[in-house]
Amino acid sequence: MSQVNVGLCGLGTVGTGVVKLLTGHADEIKYKVGSEIQIKKILVNDLDKKRDVAINRDWLTTDPEELVSNPEIDVIIEVMGGIDDTNILLEKAIRNKKHVVTANKDLMAIHGPKLLKLAKDNKCDVFYDASVAGGIPIIRPLTEGLASDKIQKIMGIVNGTTNYILTKMSDEGLDFDTVLQEAQELGFAEADPTADVDGLDAARKMTLLANLAFKMEIDLDDVEVTGIRSITQEDIAFATSLGYTIKLIGNASIYDGKAEVTVEPTLLPKDHPLALVKNEFNAVYVYGKAVGETMFYGPGAGSLPTATAVVSDLMAVVKNIRLETTGTEYITPQYEKQLKQDDE
Ligand code: NDP
Ligand code: HSE
Repeated sequence: MSQVNVGLCGLGTVGTGVVKLLTGHADEIKYKVGSEIQIKKILVNDLDKKRDVAINRDWLTTDPEELVSNPEIDVIIEVMGGIDDTNILLEKAIRNKKHVVTANKDLMAIHGPKLLKLAKDNKCDVFYDASVAGGIPIIRPLTEGLASDKIQKIMGIVNGTTNYILTKMSDEGLDFDTVLQEAQELGFAEADPTADVDGLDAARKMTLLANLAFKMEIDLDDVEVTGIRSITQEDIAFATSLGYTIKLIGNASIYDGKAEVTVEPTLLPKDHPLALVKNEFNAVYVYGKAVGETMFYGPGAGSLPTATAVVSDLMAVVKNIRLETTGTEYITPQYEKQLKQDDE
């Protein structure tokens, strides 16, 4: 296929980065995948909003049908957020044989297995590497590069907003509300930052990672979650006086054959590798029985870093279209269960 057409759902922080990358790196991308990638439509809420990127205004629409039922469109990139309505939209797109790339961990942590199953039935791809840790490639390394190993532990900072808040509170003495507002202005926080601040965003990401890595059925409801809302300047000063830093740490481990996943503010010695991860940066430590310790580090939120993961997933889809294949499927135990249930 000489040209692959894209319908982009969302032109906010991430969507803007996607357009910038697809235009700014067009030659590089075309060279690597062997096809031209063309945006055909962009779904937004507000047609009149000023945009931070050059676009053809004719691409904009508020009608999802112009994307999901558009015979010209091959791939839907979903970077608008939302759970149930977005799921309905993507289900329809897949039934109409559109491949999907999404950065939406809220959606994938809840509807992922069914969407993947639907995609398999319709011979479509659903890729979601941008949904965990923004610009850090972590899903593909866990499911491909480390596939031969037995992963025992994943520990890390997987929410950029809370890491930004804790860094600024600690290093610059700023207060929680001021820094949260900064994180929102910089585009790191979710539309409703409650999920960031209360640890739910990190819990969703840790659930996705733990399921993929351990191949055990781990439910979001089983994750013990404490956010950072109650952390005060006094707590930070006290920790600092003892030589510690407070970080929101996600932890997924296997003990006696059982998986345990937690997200909680944690005291780390100041020279601990995760204590040195600042601002919106994320880091994920993975321990595998054979490989030992590995660490993935980089920007966990933000426009271009997240867009890099989204567009790389899009390139993987385009390569599959050229090869007339689909996959790699990221197979979780829930997904396997779904496959079995539907076969019975
Ligand atoms: P933004 O709030 O910046 O942008 C959302 C975009 O989607 C806007 O363009 C908005 O339109 C559009 N939109 C939202 N709801 C609808 C709807 N119902 N119908 C039509 N258009 C809609 O979000 P982000 O770019 O920050 O995040 C997008 C997704 O990416 C989320 O799932 C988020 O969790 C995920 N993500 C975000 C990261 C980040 O750093 N920001 C990093 C990793 C993942 P309009 O512009 O007209 O208001
Ligand atoms: N709100 C999220 C964060 C965006 O701060 O990490 C990236 O998933």
